[in-house]
Amino acid sequence: MEKQELLRVKGLKKYFPIKKGFGGHKVQYVKAVDNVNFHIYKGETFGLVGESGCGKSTTGRTLIRLYDVTEGEILFDGTDISRMKEKELLPYRKKMQMIFQDPYSSLDARMTVSDIIGEPLDIHGLASGKERKDRISELLENVGLKEEHANRYPHEFSGGQRQRVGIARALAVNPEFIICDEPISALDVSIQAQVVNMLEDIQNQYGITYLFIAHDLSMVRHISDRIGVMYLGNLVEIAESDELYENPLHPYTQALLSAIPNPYKDKNKTRIMLEGEVPSPIDPPKGCRFASRCKYAKDICRETEPVIKDMGNEHFCACHLYD
Ligand SMILES: Nc1ncnc2c1ncn2[C@@H]1O[C@H](COP(=O)(O)OP(=O)(O)O)[C@@H](O)[C@H]1O
Ligand code: SF4
Ligand SMILES: [Mg+2]
Repeated sequence: MEKQELLRVKGLKKYFPIKKGFGGHKVQYVKAVDNVNFHIYKGETFGLVGESGCGKSTTGRTLIRLYDVTEGEILFDGTDISRMKEKELLPYRKKMQMIFQDPYSSLDARMTVSDIIGEPLDIHGLASGKERKDRISELLENVGLKEEHANRYPHEFSGGQRQRVGIARALAVNPEFIICDEPISALDVSIQAQVVNMLEDIQNQYGITYLFIAHDLSMVRHISDRIGVMYLGNLVEIAESDELYENPLHPYTQALLSAIPNPYKDKNKTRIMLEGEVPSPIDPPKGCRFASRCKYAKDICRETEPVIKDMGNEHFCACHLYD
């Protein structure tokens, strides 16, 4: 069956203005996402990885219009939502949901679980009265919680259970697309696999498309169909999951992968240490943003920004090594 695109992102930029200097008059920008291009197929999980601060969350939040777009286009099922006003966006708000890293701060401590999960139902006018109550019970069951949990408060749950509440809330509106922003990073290792398995079961059951954000590559191989690697506001490599792990092309991806211990393969492979400073996203260098840490950097790398190119086999890479 031909793969269908759910999302296509073209030249996406998100700059945050910050005031600098005496009296705060001079405006500078944090270029958190700077010309990012990718697409996500219906029903797949697209992993987005990169070190903390490289712009993963900002990409996700801009994609579902939690932030205004500085520049670029976001096509959802073929419709450009990048400049839609709130009223026009409302049906898309229902289609696109987000699960956050820290289930504690993302759930209102004063609300019961029933109110937390019921809120999106109310906002979108999806159910009331008995129907609402039944739907909340059904959602709790979907995420492995019980009906009697409905009247409890977030602090009465463990971290893993709170994340389940967050997932139930995201599912309440029957979304087509969910951004999972480091959903297991804050959880005990012992329950991380449970939550990932549950997310996969939910995907299989409802055909939901995921953007799964993680800060390292060890977590995403299993869950992702394809993976994008971000560095300082840019997407530097995109490939199918196995292809990326077996044949990483970008020097940054190679360094990230070499940092993952793999007891089964390449025992003699040495870890590539990333040295040098990460430049500031306020004033990124011209040319390749990874040049200050890349052992292959040559003159052109410091002059000309590499564009992301199709290397065949659904493998994209932005690096002058492959010009
Ligand atoms: N609301 C904001 N205002 C100003 N700068 C921000 C804001 N949110 C994120 N940033 C900056 O944008 C960059 C990318 O952040 P973020 O998207 O959170 O990265 P990641 O999720 O990959 O850790 C960082 O330099 C961060 O400090
Ligand atoms: S473009 Fe140059 S500096 Fe950048 S990753 Fe490739 S070789 Fe390294
Ligand atoms: Mg983040």
